[in-house]
Amino acid sequence: MRVLLLMLLSFSVTAGSPEKSAIASAHYMATEAGHQILAQGGNAFDAAIAVSSTLAVVEQQSSGIGGGAFWLLHRAKDGKNVMIDGREEAPNAAFADMYLDENGEVNRDLALNGPLAAAIPGEIAGFEHLAKHYGKLPLSVSLQPAIKAAEEGFPAYPRIIKTIERKAKVLKRYPASAAVYFPNGQIPKEGQLIIQKDLAKTLKAVAKHGKAGFYEGKVARKMVKSVQKHGGIWTLDDLKNYTIKERNPITTNYRGHQLVTAAPPSSGGIAIATILNILSAWDLTAMNDDEDRAKRIHLVVEAMRRAYRDRSIYLGDTDFVDVPIQLLTHPYYAAGLRAGISPHKAMPSALLPGINDNPKGEDTTHFSIIDTEGNMVSATLTVNTGLASGFIAEGTGVLLNNEMDDFSAKPGEPNAFGLIGDDANKIEPGKRPLSSMSPTFVFSEDKVAVLGTPGGSRIITMVLLGLLDYFDGNEVHSWVQKPRYHHQYLPDKLFIEKDALDLKTIEALKAKGHEVVEHKGRWGNMHAVSWNKKTGEVDAASDPRTTTGSAMVK
Ligand code: DON
Repeated sequence: MRVLLLMLLSFSVTAGSPEKSAIASAHYMATEAGHQILAQGGNAFDAAIAVSSTLAVVEQQSSGIGGGAFWLLHRAKDGKNVMIDGREEAPNAAFADMYLDENGEVNRDLALNGPLAAAIPGEIAGFEHLAKHYGKLPLSVSLQPAIKAAEEGFPAYPRIIKTIERKAKVLKRYPASAAVYFPNGQIPKEGQLIIQKDLAKTLKAVAKHGKAGFYEGKVARKMVKSVQKHGGIWTLDDLKNYTIKERNPITTNYRGHQLVTAAPPSSGGIAIATILNILSAWDLTAMNDDEDRAKRIHLVVEAMRRAYRDRSIYLGDTDFVDVPIQLLTHPYYAAGLRAGISPHKAMPSALLPGINDNPKGEDTTHFSIIDTEGNMVSATLTVNTGLASGFIAEGTGVLLNNEMDDFSAKPGEPNAFGLIGDDANKIEPGKRPLSSMSPTFVFSEDKVAVLGTPGGSRIITMVLLGLLDYFDGNEVHSWVQKPRYHHQYLPDKLFIEKDALDLKTIEALKAKGHEVVEHKGRWGNMHAVSWNKKTGEVDAASDPRTTTGSAMVK
């Protein structure tokens, strides 16, 4: 009897498992690192450490150990879904008006560049938490590929070279940054190795001592000394007191699909839930032909507008402010918002009760993993804008984030992504700045989807458009390449990617009252994996908008 039961149990486990593992990330060295760790006996969570840490070395314009992350996890053995919140935290000496000048205006340079822009990083604490509570391997193993990449170097590629060019002035202010990004005093050429010996040493300290190798001891002392020397306010206690928080993800249903997505301090999950609740009344899939396309986009945009309005008013770190999550994600609340949408006319944002142009979305990074046990990771990691504060703390190789700009430095004043905020997201010591990062899982009857993307304020709408494409019945390769459009309440504009919409649709949207702004470039860097539970097949896809992305099934 017991044997039979065991057989039945193991049958149900293997029958429900993916045939292979899949990883999609923004850099081939990171995807390879993840597969290497799986081959060494690690699970998806160990692979997530390997991918994150390798990205921290080879794609540090986007994320890094001086930054933070949300890792959304699904553990197969008990079905647990949890968000590991490794978001940066304001140092203890931070205060609401810290970026205002004598005229009460926001000093954008201080908010974005140099160590005063940096919040206390969370990524390394996340690694230790992942390894201890979810992984199978020690950090000394899962950090190996990153250490190697830092020590031996990685070839420079156009995206990082462009970011170095853009950030050159700031990087040159700080000797430790200049030494890494201007080897021989020059911007690196394509293919030239970028070597980071100090970063390798710091990663080795973490491999040996875990979190303490970064937040205490030599590395911590060097970081604090360097930060303070250059005008920052970090203390050793700020570092020592940083802790990981486990958050219950936001969950919602959309026409038979179950969504598991980011919780505060991200705004993404709540906004996506609100938007999907509003849209659930319509059969959007039936509006995909030429005739109805403008109608579909109009409805989606009106839902976006309302969710971003709520973001600006209500959302912030739930450890500091009461966020009415139940209300904002409730179908009745969405029904109220839906009632105000005219199918014919755009509602000007100024008419919505409540309280301005965006950079592109390729800083920050996202990866998706599924292993053969059915464990999954959807992780978005960031240092905020490209190459972040531009400040490497001397002797550590750690490029510090500029995540303080994700707070609202002044009510109603747009941040780097044109996002506005109010008291809920004002600066307070120990508080985590409101994020848009939206790592997401969808569980459907026969399928599972894992997706996310960088892109600042547009992350939420990009994930939403990926989801709508999935709900339309399309495959993972389609979600990542789908043309994108975006509305964020203020500025009251409908942004579209270059060539995203045909002229007829644009004219129809204009006729409804939308101010359509076509961008010169394309946005985002989505990396997604999927699993067909019926056939066991897994699939992976990387956004075609960038060249280093890598999706691999093994
Ligand atoms: O957490 C956030 O929402 C931002 N710090 C993300 C920044 C980002 O995606 C930059 N990429 N364009």
